[in-house]
Amino acid sequence: MELICIEKTDSTNNYLADLCDKEVVQEFTTVCANFQTAGKGQRGNSWESEAGKNLLFSFVTYPAFVKARDQFVLSEIIALSVKEALDCHISDVSVKWPNDIYWKDKKICGMLIENVLGDGGVARCIAGIGLNINQRAFLSDAPNPVSLAQITGKEEDLQAVLKDIMLFVAQYYEGLKLHTEVMTNYLTERYNQSLYRREGIYPFRDAQGAFEASILRVDPDGRLFLLDTEGKERSYLFKEVQFII
Ligand code: BTN
Repeated sequence: MELICIEKTDSTNNYLADLCDKEVVQEFTTVCANFQTAGKGQRGNSWESEAGKNLLFSFVTYPAFVKARDQFVLSEIIALSVKEALDCHISDVSVKWPNDIYWKDKKICGMLIENVLGDGGVARCIAGIGLNINQRAFLSDAPNPVSLAQITGKEEDLQAVLKDIMLFVAQYYEGLKLHTEVMTNYLTERYNQSLYRREGIYPFRDAQGAFEASILRVDPDGRLFLLDTEGKERSYLFKEVQFII
């Protein structure tokens, strides 16, 4: 795995995408920056991070063996890898559907996965991860952020955490390549077991307004199924429903 460490870029996702467009880039090549001037978040949001304090990185894979309609399995791999790397340091880490990583009710990590589809499969996947590690104060308007150091009370080694995450990613990815169907089922099951608010009734909001529901499951295509307090099953794709925290 090649690791490219840079001081500053607009976005590590953009930096890596530009590199891939210009030259042949090996799978798992990882770009890690100390600072991003225009870090990208989900839903067109920005991602802010104090210089040198957190992990800001992107890596590339070419999972042509993953069909376009199964691409959510890539999100599952990355979310589980971050969660399981953090599990080595702290407890109470979960995956908030679809792919935030939470510690208790706070967000410790966000990810932005940008796939290029081709020939029915995923031709290129650039996964960008922003993981709060040593930042102690969050001044932006990001809701409920937390860092690893705030939880453990000590300075953490950024590169060691990056290495752990990439070991999990590589294992899951190679497993998926060899045994695509079995591993897809296994990953979906593991993802479901790792979900934030997996048990109990909580408030949600959709286009019709606020309601209370429990999580039934997330399907392999990434669709979230809820059971509301009137006994009605509701299903959602990304961005169609929000957790009220
Ligand atoms: C989110 O909104 O939760 C997703 C945040 C993703 C941020 C990471 S930081 C490294 C990579 N480069 C980016 O521009 N975004 C991702």
